[in-house]
Amino acid sequence: MTNTEGVTRHKTVLLNEAIEGLFAPQKAGNEKLIVVDGTFGGGGHSLEICKKNPGVKIIALDQDKGVFIKAKSKFKELGCDISFHEANFRNLDKVLGAELPFGSSAPKTVNGIILDLGLSSDQLQSSGRGFSFMRDEPLIMTMKENPTPSDVTAYEVVNTWGEESLADVIYGYGEERQARRIAGAIAKARKKQEIKTTFDLVKVIEEAIPARFRKSKIHCATKTFQAIRIAVNDELGALSEGLEKGFQTLKEGGRMSVISFHSLEDRIVKRFFKKQANEKKAILISKKPITAGKEEIKNNSRARSAKLRIIQKI
Ligand SMILES: C[S@@+](CC[C@H](N)C(=O)[O-])C[C@H]1O[C@@H](n2cnc3c(N)ncnc32)[C@H](O)[C@@H]1O
Repeated sequence: MTNTEGVTRHKTVLLNEAIEGLFAPQKAGNEKLIVVDGTFGGGGHSLEICKKNPGVKIIALDQDKGVFIKAKSKFKELGCDISFHEANFRNLDKVLGAELPFGSSAPKTVNGIILDLGLSSDQLQSSGRGFSFMRDEPLIMTMKENPTPSDVTAYEVVNTWGEESLADVIYGYGEERQARRIAGAIAKARKKQEIKTTFDLVKVIEEAIPARFRKSKIHCATKTFQAIRIAVNDELGALSEGLEKGFQTLKEGGRMSVISFHSLEDRIVKRFFKKQANEKKAILISKKPITAGKEEIKNNSRARSAKLRIIQKI
């Protein structure tokens, strides 16, 4: 999703660190590098991969097909060999099965995979799907641009899920200490009237939280919105599946760079990478997560919570 001029508002996080980490051992030789960008977004990481590695083949995935529209021409101008797929990275195996030009028995393997999790600034600011509590929009929150009737939406979560489940989601995915209070208020409010828009939901949350708990630096709806979005898109389930499938897909010596913004996501990445290292299937390139420097954080506040972990398959 880009704005009307087709220019993304998204500022890529940990750009050099993620790309250098991905290619360091693989530059030499005549082999054509194949890289998967599992979270294309504004295309920032893919663009850098393309500029730094002429001849590379990029397989770009995003659940939100809107992100590809303008990006296509930018990559064409650069003569970049890139293919675009509207797909969840949890289905990476299916995309690669159809994409890589090998015989049916040959392994479908790649040199690098990058995942830069969460939402792009474009989705937050102009998707119209209710990701931000700052805009009055319908409660949708799917990363998919056009959800089908079988896709869960934020409207469904807020208006039909049981109070207990809502509280568990808000506490578990949002780490919101007022989760029970908020879930109770949602259950009560929706009996009177459906909660249709982001502002309807914000109002319920604001009224649920006593003034003494509202002094935090972040808005009192932040954690609840994040939790509902994670539930709607099954983001943690997709991450676990994407890591498994991604790692299986890497060639020996291939690397995977993952940038996360949430402690639950980082825990999943850390545990998965550690398991591969303990089983001697991989080495950890970064024992501790790589974080943004002061300068980057000054220019992009989103970088503050970013954690990059890199692994290399043995
Ligand atoms: C933080 S942005 C990526 C930004 C990009 N690296 C850049 O520099 O412009 C995350 C993107 O990943 C997509 N996304 C998140 N989870 C996904 C998943 N499980 N499968 C595919 N795309 C996903 C979102 O739709 C969003 O466009």
